[in-house]
Amino acid sequence: MDISPHTQGGGLVDRFDRVATDLRVSLTDRCNLRCEYCMPPEGLEWMPTDEVLTDDEVCRLIAIAVQHLGVTEVRFTGGEPLVRRGLVDIVRRTTALEPRPKTALTTNALGLHRTAGALREAGLDRVNASLDTIRPETFAQITLRDRLGDVLRGLEAAKEHGLTPVKINAVLLRGVNDGQAAELLRWAIDHDYELRFIEQMPLDAQHHWRRDTMVTADEIFGHLEGEFVLTPADEDRGSAPAERFLVDGGPATVGVIASVTRPFCGDCDRVRLTADGQVRNCLFAREESDLRTPLRDGADDAEIAARWRAAVASKRPGHGIDNPKFLQPTRPMSAIGG
Ligand code: 5AD
Ligand code: SF4
Repeated sequence: MDISPHTQGGGLVDRFDRVATDLRVSLTDRCNLRCEYCMPPEGLEWMPTDEVLTDDEVCRLIAIAVQHLGVTEVRFTGGEPLVRRGLVDIVRRTTALEPRPKTALTTNALGLHRTAGALREAGLDRVNASLDTIRPETFAQITLRDRLGDVLRGLEAAKEHGLTPVKINAVLLRGVNDGQAAELLRWAIDHDYELRFIEQMPLDAQHHWRRDTMVTADEIFGHLEGEFVLTPADEDRGSAPAERFLVDGGPATVGVIASVTRPFCGDCDRVRLTADGQVRNCLFAREESDLRTPLRDGADDAEIAARWRAAVASKRPGHGIDNPKFLQPTRPMSAIGG
């Protein structure tokens, strides 16, 4: 167990002795794309503005997590975090904390060419970007926006400003881009991006996900092994969700995140904070714990930390997606954060 001075009173430990040190902070539920596996074409009813935490409130909760609860990594997500106006300032205040947490951003990279420099200067360490295809027409089909060029510019800017390694998350959809896995990997290697394929999860607001039509990790390997030789890259992946492989002997790698068919819940070290101030233990949790109300009622750091510990203590052992009784969470991905 961690006995650093920053977890006096205890870290975020659950009944299965997992310790949450990786905090995912959703900064908005809004997004400028409409990825088929995430949002309906018309968008969603956005969170009421008065329920969204202010910049000061977000920074206060992050400070409590880092200074009292042993959080060592902070990742900003959305919706699309680049649409949050205060992002650069929130990053700056996060990286100024002692002990300084590692900070990263999960983004669709739209507009990143404009903010990559400021984000780097504010102390951001890395970005993960979502990109499922390098064909403009497939991009427009999946995201309903003709913006591939802007995304590619954003990725280049992230690399130029040293937000590296730039990791790319790709979701394969049957009959849409599942035939493009090898092409995407070839492109990522040529451009020095670290590609990871993520199995499609039941988090779309439309509830269209189906276990029998999703593209599985085994199928992803099948697509790649036609063109590349993959050999395991890590002996022990720890709490990392991606299984990584050397491509044709390396040094390039590819990752596969098989959340559905090979769940890694037993090693999970994550905890999530939604844009409206709710702690969630899992993307698939059906419970949340409200921190916004005590925060706005004037609770002190120790009380908020105690509530946060209690929330994580009740974390369930796993998500159970493969269980026939699995129920999709009521919040879609865009309102939880990836
Ligand atoms: N299944 C798998 N991955 C998803 N993402 C968004 N929705 C889903 C889903 N239903 C991915 C995005 C992004 C990250 C936050 O999660 O592509 O990279
Ligand atoms: Fe936006 Fe990300 Fe959802 Fe796509 S997956 S619609 S980029 S929040």
